[in-house]
Amino acid sequence: MMKIIIANWKMNPQTLREARNIFQGIKKTAKKLKKVETIICPPFAYISNLKPQIPNLKIGSQNVFYEERGAFTGEISVWMLKDLGVRYAIIGHSERRALGETNEMINKKIKTALKAGLKVIFCVGENERDFEDKYFNFIKNEIDEGLKGIPRKFFSPPTGGLIIAYEPVWAISSAKNAQPDTPESAFRMAVFIRRMLMPIIGSEPARKIPILYGGSVGPENVAGFLQDMQGALVGSKSLNPKDFGEILKIANGIK
Ligand code: 13P
Repeated sequence: MMKIIIANWKMNPQTLREARNIFQGIKKTAKKLKKVETIICPPFAYISNLKPQIPNLKIGSQNVFYEERGAFTGEISVWMLKDLGVRYAIIGHSERRALGETNEMINKKIKTALKAGLKVIFCVGENERDFEDKYFNFIKNEIDEGLKGIPRKFFSPPTGGLIIAYEPVWAISSAKNAQPDTPESAFRMAVFIRRMLMPIIGSEPARKIPILYGGSVGPENVAGFLQDMQGALVGSKSLNPKDFGEILKIANGIK
């Protein structure tokens, strides 16, 4: 199965010129790789200037709005994104949750994005670990609430549009004393997520949907996470074409 490697540029870089350079650098590597799907999620402002033009490179957005049109100053609709060639949308990133996005808003955003035919990269992750494994319940709740009331047809292969990104908040490189999770513990969560998805989205889709890891991923640790998981969501290292290119090559070489 193809690995999925996602670049989340967050609110970087500061100029279109830099964005183009990073994009071209990544594209040069992605072009040579057959076994990895690369998705670049730039800030909205750069999207129309970045053209993938190769089959295994796609553009994603870092957010969407939950209403389809109308008087919502400053928001961007799923249809506008589709029209610009966007195929994926990150929804529920912890940095948006920290700004006040609730599970209910995330649920509406996921529904609207799937309806428009965007593939959703649904982010979940606990703020901290505890020794009694209560954080598993926290993740279960994020998923239950996020996927509430979404018709199953949106999750069925071949058109099924859901990817889950498990991104523990404490592991994100911008967090104080950030440390990547271990591949074993991330995989334990992936198994839990897959099992809990069965009654929600159906057992066949739950078996098949990609579950990705995110949080301080770099060339030095990505291979471990990709052994048992289907991809990675990369923040700071995705702004460096050399590091990100290494990550892509490593992903491409995983059996
Ligand atoms: P880092 O790779 O910088 O830890 O960021 C992870 C992230 O938040 C990607 O969405």
